[in-house]
Amino acid sequence: MASIFQGKSFLKEIDFTKDELLYLIDFAAHLKELKQQNISHKYLAGKNIALLFEKTSTRTRAAFTTAAIDLGAHPEYLGKNDIQLGKKESVEDTAKVLGSMFDGIEYRGFSQTAVEALAEHSGVPVWNGLTDEWHPTQMLADFLTIKEHFGKLEGLTLAYVGDGRNNVANSLLITSAILGINISIVTPEKLFPDQGLIEMAKKYAEASKGKISITADIDQGVAQADVIYTDVWVSMGEEEAFKERIDLLLPYQVNQELMAKTKKTETIFLHCLPAFHDLETEVAEEIKEKYGLAEMEVTDEVFRSENALQFQQAENRMHTIKAVMAATLGNLFVPKA
Ligand code: CP
Ligand code: NVA
Repeated sequence: MASIFQGKSFLKEIDFTKDELLYLIDFAAHLKELKQQNISHKYLAGKNIALLFEKTSTRTRAAFTTAAIDLGAHPEYLGKNDIQLGKKESVEDTAKVLGSMFDGIEYRGFSQTAVEALAEHSGVPVWNGLTDEWHPTQMLADFLTIKEHFGKLEGLTLAYVGDGRNNVANSLLITSAILGINISIVTPEKLFPDQGLIEMAKKYAEASKGKISITADIDQGVAQADVIYTDVWVSMGEEEAFKERIDLLLPYQVNQELMAKTKKTETIFLHCLPAFHDLETEVAEEIKEKYGLAEMEVTDEVFRSENALQFQQAENRMHTIKAVMAATLGNLFVPKA
């Protein structure tokens, strides 16, 4: 009997139910243990995986590559300058060709429509490695990290502080609502999430009994937070927006003062990365020169603090992506949740 996951794509969080997402998180924890104990788990032996990247990546590319190899599959990186996609060939035609040769396809790019079209026309599972709208594989790693730390998910509150309209904010809002975690999006009104998305999140939260708050008020937004999460103020493809975002988001920088506003005894810090927390990058240097800022969305002090778990979170990208690929392509026995 084929599992409920077999052959499915992961294009956005709502593709899976609460129980299915929880299963993937727990399965990832199991795969992490197997990896640590050096126990082979080659569920995808002999399979070929295409990794399409129109935007740059460190974690997602590294995670898909190593996860595929651990699963016994062969990953092939197809960067934006390597293939015809978008320049000489449509998504539909590319999907038909890749689907005839590869068993699964990862896609990172701009348009959600493109990843959906790839899934529709390739006939193989497609995994969204980030689009302008969603970052679903990131969510599995984030909630695995939270579960590892607190030993549970239910009853917790996550406050996302920063650009409230980007892919990571969208995904955190919807995933928290599906899973029943209380979520607070703390952002200036100009960057409030899309109204349709808020309505969608409210529907899921009704079923899961999670609470949703969208607020510009930092004190109120972070008071109950077990997790403070931030992301870059300017996402890939929006590079001309630095000035505007700095003006809007500087008061929302995650620093010690903001961390101290939470009323919980223990609050962890998460960031999907990459982060602007020091001057060790070209872009950060440029920003320092233009706007006099040495740190952006998070201070170096918070980033290097004991409760900052962003590197555990980054490692978990690999285990969770492995879980998604194995579950959707590995013909595993999965008892119905
Ligand atoms: N968090 C994340 O997706 O990182 P990369 O952009 O490096 O893949
Ligand atoms: N919001 C960021 C996430 C990077 C992982 C971006 O899209 O650039």
